Amino acid sequence: MLPTTARRALRAATRDAHARAEAAPAMAALLTGTLDAHRYRRLLASLHRHFVRWERERGAFLRGAGTAAGWCYASRAALLADDLQIPAPARSALPDPWPRAEPAHAWGELYVIEGSTLGARLLARRLRDILPEAPRAYFSFGSDDPAHWPRFERTLERALADPATHAAAIDGASRAFADITRALERTDA
Ligand code: HEM
Repeated sequence: MLPTTARRALRAATRDAHARAEAAPAMAALLTGTLDAHRYRRLLASLHRHFVRWERERGAFLRGAGTAAGWCYASRAALLADDLQIPAPARSALPDPWPRAEPAHAWGELYVIEGSTLGARLLARRLRDILPEAPRAYFSFGSDDPAHWPRFERTLERALADPATHAAAIDGASRAFADITRALERTDA
């Protein structure tokens, strides 16, 4: 039997959560080509709200998370601000109000964010077809850098080398999927 890597454990534990994220009406509309420009902007705005809050809560962790493997976190809030043509969020000077104390939890959250760039390549192509004029910095992120995910994966495996950390990472990933899915669903609220 293959040894359990963090990625394998996270993927297996979040398969259903991924299916729920894919089934969010705005995602389904994007896939089927029925997403119009107005709804696309609402989708971006909703994700922007989510990531501004999340990046503020995880600020200190994210600043320290860059690694020798060459991966560092690119602000999704900034990419979304770019697409929305609004100012990039200011970095909060406040201490992180981080209620979930374990770094493994945050690595699980990052697995969801970085992993979503894999499927987003397909979504960026759909967007280009249905809304060719629309900016898509967020959905295209990583498309022109195939090494981004492998760099993250190596970083993730190092951070979660001890299988005892996997439960906290799975908890973080499950919450991240739930939070982002709620943000996707708020597009149509
Ligand atoms: C219609 C929407 C979506 C589609 C069609 C889709 C599709 C995909 C596909 C095809 C992959 C595998 C890519 C590969 O292995 O090269 C993937 C991976 C992944 N996606 Fe999505 N995705 C969608 C939405 C999302 C969302 C909203 C999230 C996050 C909240 C997400 C998180 C992930 C993660 C974490 C992985 C990595 C799984 C692994 O470890 O292999 N996806 N997605």
